[in-house]
Amino acid sequence: MGGVSPLLSSSSCSSSSLTSSRVVTMTMMRRSVKNTRLSTTSGRSAAGENSSTTQTTTTYKRRDRLAQIKGNDRGKSKVGKTLELKGWVRSNRAQKDRAFIDLNDGSDMSGMQMVVLQEHVDENVWQLVAGATSEVSTGASIRVKGKVVESPGGKQSVEVLVDELEIIGKADPATYPLQKKRHTLEYLRGIAHLRPRTNTIAAVSRVRNQLAFATHQFFQQNGFLYVNTPIITASDCEGAGEQFQVTCLLNGLEEEGSAGAAASVAPQDVEKVEQKVKSQGDIVKKTKADKGEGNATKEDVDREVKKLLALKEELTELQSGSNTPQTSVKELPKLKSGGVDYEQDFFAKRSYLTVSGQLNGEIMASAVNDIYTFGPTFRAENSNTSRHLAEFWMVEPELAFADLNDDMDCAEAYLKHCITHVLKHCDEDLQFFEKNISKDNLRERLQNVVDQDFARITYTEAVEHVLSAKKKFEFPIQWGSDLQSEHERYISEEVYKDRPVIVRDYPKDIKAFYMRANDDGKTVAAMDVLVPKVGELMGGSQREERLDVLEKKIEEVGLEKESYWWYLELRKYGSVPHSGFGLGFERLVQYVTGVENIRDVIAFPRYPGSADF
Ligand code: 4AD
Ligand code: MG
Repeated sequence: MGGVSPLLSSSSCSSSSLTSSRVVTMTMMRRSVKNTRLSTTSGRSAAGENSSTTQTTTTYKRRDRLAQIKGNDRGKSKVGKTLELKGWVRSNRAQKDRAFIDLNDGSDMSGMQMVVLQEHVDENVWQLVAGATSEVSTGASIRVKGKVVESPGGKQSVEVLVDELEIIGKADPATYPLQKKRHTLEYLRGIAHLRPRTNTIAAVSRVRNQLAFATHQFFQQNGFLYVNTPIITASDCEGAGEQFQVTCLLNGLEEEGSAGAAASVAPQDVEKVEQKVKSQGDIVKKTKADKGEGNATKEDVDREVKKLLALKEELTELQSGSNTPQTSVKELPKLKSGGVDYEQDFFAKRSYLTVSGQLNGEIMASAVNDIYTFGPTFRAENSNTSRHLAEFWMVEPELAFADLNDDMDCAEAYLKHCITHVLKHCDEDLQFFEKNISKDNLRERLQNVVDQDFARITYTEAVEHVLSAKKKFEFPIQWGSDLQSEHERYISEEVYKDRPVIVRDYPKDIKAFYMRANDDGKTVAAMDVLVPKVGELMGGSQREERLDVLEKKIEEVGLEKESYWWYLELRKYGSVPHSGFGLGFERLVQYVTGVENIRDVIAFPRYPGSADF
């Protein structure tokens, strides 16, 4: 989960906390630039080890976490050293004269065993650990100082013989929601503030972190530029109408409306609007002057005039009804037709949270060559499935001077790179998933993905596979209809025996407007990468780079050509064949860990009816 916090939230941060969090972020960035400490194991290892940047020396050093202490030799080389450790108690087993504390600091799966011998520690420490009201209970945070010794037990290779122990934060055992027993993932979703302390969610977070690292590494090593595309947009990239709208028109509406029901208009409200009319009058004058100098367009002037007229109308209404009761002080600005007048909204047009960074990615690739984005995307599809989120992260490369074959080669190499990376750096976590979550040969399956070529077939062949299948599907299929998840899984799991499959050349009517038309007049140069258990992991295409063809397509699908003027201009000036794809990052984490439900591979999932935490 790599420290990613949600963009969609139901809680509001005060402006002061926003300011301070900004300060923290900047500090952390500075640290990470300087910090070149080499870490070695588990989910924490890659940042230093794999960095392709030049290493510089630094004076900054954080305390070693358990993963780094254990290194590659399970801590053997630290035997004899005295260490200070901080973390959370997983369990505490006290016996007559000794106690065993399982300490975990989140840096790896197994944590470390702390051994407290009564004869070796102060009486007050012994009471803290083993007394009738022991505070060293599951969930408590503690600081421990002690010597690393070889462990006589077979479970771990080293343990810590405790000299000092201090409670940092207690956790009342009577109410702490996470007990040593296994909780269901459904239960854990209801306590998302504590669930990263469980083995499963902590391991998911570490694997997710490594996949993000591997993503940047792959594209950086191949010369792609990392660019950031906007989160707020006025376009609907996928044309599926599944966008969350962004508006400021509702701000204050409810409060003012309800309070205003019985209230009369206060003189200061009239003054406020008078002031607004005056400032807007000045803006109109300035925009007209700007237009005279060629710095503003007629549309700019019209827009500002329109705002002025609306404000004047509001003022007249307020003045005429100053002493009479109002039903609502503020109303949505309306067009004559009765529709909402979005020109008066914050962005002066209808705006949304982005469903994909692709269109902006294409702009960048048309200037600086191959790029990639890695950011949050939002879809208001009301699907309560185990593969859909309302807020998910997408990795979107865009390749310049590239056709569909180049796109497929990139997708295959990228996925193989990610899997190779986690197999190397997350072995302990993958072992855990194999034993407790996927309950199969997870690592072997992943290794097979790296070792074999992906199958590549056309959509038509995919449909034939489904039609000739012996098994029954819930959804029937015919040429022209979209492949359902059950079909996608059947193809990669059964037909191609657990191999990723790239399906290309889909019917034009089921794909987005920007995909390049094939010569057959029926299909487009689209491709989806299907993987076992998950189904569609990536979706991409070659983009339509021919101006006339694209213009016709935009008209055909009923989009407003004017809104896409800039997208069309890319085809007018120095157009090049280009291609790209989007990988759903949570689906990648699902694929690699075997976690069944997408809501458990992101720290704070957003889905219909849920924006808690
Ligand atoms: O196939 P999609 O819709 O493609 C695009 O958005 C393109 N504009 C990408 C591009 O070419 N740059 O989405 C891409 C991937 C899917 O293959 C899927 O893995 C994931 O995004 N995805 C979702 N993941 C979680 N929750 C959802 N609601 C998702 N919708 C798509
Ligand atoms: Mg798709």
